[in-house]
Amino acid sequence: MIISTLSKKYIDQEEKYGAHNYHPLPVVLASGKGCYVWDVDGKKYYDFLSAYSAVNQGHCHPKIVNALKEQAETLCLTSRAFYNDTLGPYEEYIHEYFGYDKVLPMNTGAEGVETALKLARKWGYLKKGIPKNEAIIVVCEGNFHGRTITIVSLSTDPDARADYGPYTPGIEVIPYNNSEALSSIFQEKGESIAGFLVEPIQGEAGVFVPDEGYLKECYNLCKKHNILFIADEVQTGIARTGRLLCCDHEGIRPDIVILGKAISGGVLPVSAVLADDDIMLTIEPGQHGSTFGGFPLACKVATAALEVVKEENLAEKAEYLGRIFRQELGKIKSPFIKEIRGKGLLNAIVIEPHNGKEAWDVCLKMAENGLLAKPTHGHIIRFAPPLIITEEELNDAIEIIAKSLKLLE
Ligand SMILES: Cc1ncc(COP(=O)(O)O)c(C=O)c1O
Repeated sequence: MIISTLSKKYIDQEEKYGAHNYHPLPVVLASGKGCYVWDVDGKKYYDFLSAYSAVNQGHCHPKIVNALKEQAETLCLTSRAFYNDTLGPYEEYIHEYFGYDKVLPMNTGAEGVETALKLARKWGYLKKGIPKNEAIIVVCEGNFHGRTITIVSLSTDPDARADYGPYTPGIEVIPYNNSEALSSIFQEKGESIAGFLVEPIQGEAGVFVPDEGYLKECYNLCKKHNILFIADEVQTGIARTGRLLCCDHEGIRPDIVILGKAISGGVLPVSAVLADDDIMLTIEPGQHGSTFGGFPLACKVATAALEVVKEENLAEKAEYLGRIFRQELGKIKSPFIKEIRGKGLLNAIVIEPHNGKEAWDVCLKMAENGLLAKPTHGHIIRFAPPLIITEEELNDAIEIIAKSLKLLE
């Protein structure tokens, strides 16, 4: 892939002055609109990562950007030391939209997960009667819930975890997509277990879609043992998988839902934890919070972003286009394609190395041809375009994928 002098300038700058905690594709982006982004040399690409599913509504959606602009000129931040005229309306909107008694607003996905874990522990002690400091949270192998010390303590990925110990105690890890494992840990330690934290589809692990019925069985087990079912919908939520929440596919209502990323259309870091009063009111004033959590800009932007999801029928679109995407990818004959999987517009190809070429080379070739995606775990390429993409654009993108694979054979 040829890297222009201008691109190289920005890449070198990041290399020299920034921490080396990411390994980006050598593409330097300067603007975006809808499902497209443009690099500093004016080359246009389909964005098939959507900032890890944060840009479901498309880049620079006018309604969301206008909400941001208007509020930015009025009032940006008050902190929660005072009331303001945006938070209450936003909270009521979230209540109506998702059907939970209350929302606890935070900023990043990881903070949302931390909040949910704190809520589960509080509920475990105050409501379930778990003896002090003995609460357990059950998580799944291959999980990705963010990057804080407690969250990497949940992780089984050596890259995420190594050399960050000592780890947070009170965690049990079981295999994903295995409700029997959940049942046996509940039987063994259920009295001390406060919550089961699960991604409805494991996104970062490589878009692992569990068997149909798995989430429902886990949910029923949670009910049986009086354990909170906590859904991390940071990546799968907000219409990405063809329903508003991925758990909706199985008709279950988690006790706690964690939302992030696309709740703001990728415009600001906004996250939200949803729960009913019995759980949410276990946290009292002074026991949790964040300076920016639920700040006026976030309230206005997230409201606009959620309105767009409804107004533009993004869940239905994701469901419909996702089927076409998997069907059309399935028709491509390529030695690189080992498996295609996904739900809605959260999909992945598992790449079989061929001719010394791997997933990274496929991504470079696709970038050359005008489509951006990124490998996860070396051999899996996730495809998650903005949900506002049209059928015609999707078919055009599929042609780029097919052509890129062909060129590498
Ligand atoms: C399922 C899931 N949970 C939590 C997070 C963490 O979100 P953030 O990067 O905003 O902290 C991510 C990020 O990719 C995620 O995919």
